[in-house]
Amino acid sequence: MKVLYNFDAVTDRKNTNSMKWDKSNKLFGSDDLINMWVADMDFPCPELVVKAVKERAEYPVYGYSFPPESLYDVIVERLDRVYGWKIKKEWIVFTAGVVNGLYSAVGAFTNPGDEVVVQPPVYYPFFNAVKDNGCQILYNPLAFDGQRYAMDLDNLEELFKTVTTFPARVPRIKMLILCSPHNPVGRVWSKEELAALGEICLKNNCMLISDEIHSELLVGDVQHTVTATISPELEQQTITFLSASKTFNLAGLATSFAVIPNDYWRGEFIKSRAGHNSGNLFGFAALEAAFRHGDEYLRQLLVYLKDNIKFFTGYIESNISGLKVIKPEGTYLVWVDMRKLDMNALELQNFIRCKARLALDDGYAFGPGGEGFQRFNLACPRIVLRAALERLEQAVAAIKVTNIPLNP
Ligand SMILES: Cc1ncc(COP(=O)(O)O)c(C=O)c1O
Repeated sequence: MKVLYNFDAVTDRKNTNSMKWDKSNKLFGSDDLINMWVADMDFPCPELVVKAVKERAEYPVYGYSFPPESLYDVIVERLDRVYGWKIKKEWIVFTAGVVNGLYSAVGAFTNPGDEVVVQPPVYYPFFNAVKDNGCQILYNPLAFDGQRYAMDLDNLEELFKTVTTFPARVPRIKMLILCSPHNPVGRVWSKEELAALGEICLKNNCMLISDEIHSELLVGDVQHTVTATISPELEQQTITFLSASKTFNLAGLATSFAVIPNDYWRGEFIKSRAGHNSGNLFGFAALEAAFRHGDEYLRQLLVYLKDNIKFFTGYIESNISGLKVIKPEGTYLVWVDMRKLDMNALELQNFIRCKARLALDDGYAFGPGGEGFQRFNLACPRIVLRAALERLEQAVAAIKVTNIPLNP
């Protein structure tokens, strides 16, 4: 019998140690906000995932564990089925989350002072992974024509030409961290865009770290291309990070994996991980169940998310002038251009928190190009989304009518 998932049902996440719902007082200054920030979903995960975790929990010894063979098999099968990527089991390396893996990758393959390219506005922990490893961030900002974002590959070529000075002839750009699909702007990079990027990286011997955590959350009429599938050369030059955590809402289980086809790099990466820093037994059980049994959940989830995005966009277009929604092709995160409200970063932050009473992600945190934008997480029941939009509408209307000062 087919399960019909009810994404309209509100699941109360308060008092569950939820980052999104239980930290908002501390981080945003109020308990009375509608929380649409950190990228997890307010929906339960698939019931067969819950069953798998419960079954493992029933057996009361939680000692040191390793991923079962069946988990490797299901990953190999899924990457082939979903992306046409034929990988070998031994290329898979588990990590305790993608950010954790990014830190390991930067740590393993750079020396302090090396430069790492990122393409802002982008998921801000990329910056920390670079800086906390003693490296320097080199920005290749996305190009934006007011409607759509693209990678600025001409500028990237220039960066490689110009920043290879000290010591003489030693390239200091070691790697580029790619967000694909791109959080927060929602682009799903086309095969052609990825091929052009890959060519530049190959030409300049630049390692490509491809964070593809959102790759199954496709909400536009697009396909996701795994960067490493572009060519065998690029496959050898790329470390791909994947997870079931966004797709099936499992982030709290801190289990994801890297696919590293290059044997030498895989060895170095494994050495760089601290101790048993590689996922956990509940995470393994959940990941396997999600990949094995999650297809129908995902199908219904994508229908719901697309409807949420349509509702959100339509509401803003009809009722809130001055805001522009950048329609995502992937992820459940929506990037909204609020520059017409004519507020500086702090004013916009105060306005969103204190007047609209929403907890969102401030655009400026995503680096250059993010100022004047806000990121909304639409993975919530529509009733919550509607309430948030009504708050926003009233707050924007109040500025226009009364011209009240924006700072509380
Ligand atoms: C692009 C991207 N990478 C990584 C993460 C976090 O992954 P993890 O929780 O596995 O560290 C997120 C979460 O929002 C993300 O958007």
